[in-house]
Amino acid sequence: MEKSNIHVPSPLPSIIKNSVSSQTNFYKLAMQFQQMIMVYESGIKQIETKLDILNKENKIAGRRNSIETVKSRIKTPQSIIEKLEKKGLPISFTSMMENLNDIAGIRVICPYISDIYNIKNMLLKHPDITLIEEKDYIKDPKESGYRSLHLVVEIPVYLSESTHNVKVEIQLRTIAMDFWATLEHELRYKTTTSVPESVRRELKRVAENIAMTDKEMEEIAIELQHLE
Ligand code: GTP
Ligand code: MG
Repeated sequence: MEKSNIHVPSPLPSIIKNSVSSQTNFYKLAMQFQQMIMVYESGIKQIETKLDILNKENKIAGRRNSIETVKSRIKTPQSIIEKLEKKGLPISFTSMMENLNDIAGIRVICPYISDIYNIKNMLLKHPDITLIEEKDYIKDPKESGYRSLHLVVEIPVYLSESTHNVKVEIQLRTIAMDFWATLEHELRYKTTTSVPESVRRELKRVAENIAMTDKEMEEIAIELQHLE
């Protein structure tokens, strides 16, 4: 067989560089990667379908929407490698599937805080969903001021000859929480130097104001509901 002359870009870790010693190996690796992504995408699709059904059910029942937007993403290969390296973990398919909970991510943006917990309860009632991890940054906000409910769930994906239990990270937050998190993230990434303590405090103060507004909006909604 002809020796491979595939060019491997330098940021790839040695384990991948070594694997690409022949075209056959490269093809196997590419196929494995493609299959892994497909399985994660299917996990996302299944959860998105559950959310879509909930929305339709609400619509038919004449209730307001408990979901404003749903966004999803698959972690990029570069970001997967960076996270494994940062955690000092081996760089392999098994390692990433076992150790990383956020290869598949869904962000659910809701009008009110109560919607977040209703959606969580609805999802966890489904027999095919297993809760792996829960971090409630609404009850216990992060030092930065960040608020959201993070769930890591496992869901089976059935292929023609095998079943894969995939982990999906679901971040649930209100429109107000998303407004803060999106802008804060953008500000942090745009700033090349580290963010000064005074700015951090200011951002946290804004997050607290937003959280208060979130609660007030919910109280107004409840008041109006009682009038109906
Ligand atoms: P990871 O190893 O990165 O998962 O760290 P972790 O498990 O300690 O963090 P966690 O899973 O709780 O949160 C990770 C995700 O939450 C990030 O990728 C962001 O999307 C979001 N997040 C957490 N903290 C902040 C914050 O202070 N600001 C913003 N904008 N987003 C945050
Ligand atoms: Mg995490």
